[in-house]
Amino acid sequence: MISAFAPGKCILFGEHAVVFGHPAVAVAVDHGVTVSVSESKDWVLEGKPFLKDRHPHISHILENVFQYDGAPLCIDIESSLFSAAGMGSSAALSNALAAAIQCHLTPDEPLDGVKLARIAHSAEASAQKGRASPTDTATSALGGCIVVSDTRVDGTRHIFDTELDTPEGKRHWSVSAVDIPEDLEQSWLVIGYTGEGSSTGSMVAKVADLVSKNPEKMGDLESIGKITKAGLTALSAGNLEALGMAMDACHHKLQSLEVSSNKLDMLVLAARPHSLGAKLTGAGGGGCMVALTTDPKRTSEAIEVAGGIPMISKLGSEGVRIS
Ligand code: PMV
Repeated sequence: MISAFAPGKCILFGEHAVVFGHPAVAVAVDHGVTVSVSESKDWVLEGKPFLKDRHPHISHILENVFQYDGAPLCIDIESSLFSAAGMGSSAALSNALAAAIQCHLTPDEPLDGVKLARIAHSAEASAQKGRASPTDTATSALGGCIVVSDTRVDGTRHIFDTELDTPEGKRHWSVSAVDIPEDLEQSWLVIGYTGEGSSTGSMVAKVADLVSKNPEKMGDLESIGKITKAGLTALSAGNLEALGMAMDACHHKLQSLEVSSNKLDMLVLAARPHSLGAKLTGAGGGGCMVALTTDPKRTSEAIEVAGGIPMISKLGSEGVRIS
């Protein structure tokens, strides 16, 4: 049996603004998805017969990417991520499956993060009608801290460019990395799940509608772009206080874009006295918030008391690997 693990992600800066061409910054988290594959008499997924049409990510990777024609496989999936909560669980699943299948077919070939990021992005795109940014898939494949933008971003290490034919036309992204300095090793992220699902598609549509009816809201998206760049500078310099302040400022702008919720605001407020900064993460409306802290236990307790489900991670875990 071969098992591969791929981490989930947490967006530190730039959600929603990235849709309008500004950069987004995401880090891989310690939690993720493990996929195990072994040869079997029949095709089995999670103990039940594998129905291709129900699992577009998996079928795409097996058929279109690897043109798999070997023995039937028994596939097991184990996730420690909150699902439908902006943690990138489907991207992690695609990365872990692609790594496990590659290792099954060519055990001596080392894993290539960029190749896996491209495979997982193609799986997301095929399952989401061509609409998928490479943020989740690249962060899960490569690990660490990843910046995704329409154009190259100063102060980052360029890794690869990618494009996609979407229903709205061709889109292009530049994917780069930021090395996380040792000074940040004393800090932790605490992710707080509201327990409420969040639909990325409807939150993105809500912001598009808000901006078209209130053009001055474009200013909030531009401010998020500036905060993201300030946050990146703070991150690269290992300046925890400035990083936390940028997170607080980002949450304020996301509130102005009406993507926060009462529960997200409650968890952010509860975490702040024990944190360097806190904000919603991902599409908003539900899903998760994230706090940067040097006292993860205290921050987790505060989030739990306020009704959230906490999860502790270091900043920028390792990317996909055979486990
Ligand atoms: O799907 P989530 O919750 O990780 O958030 C997506 C981030 C958005 O900027 C809101 C949408 C996007 O495609 O980048």
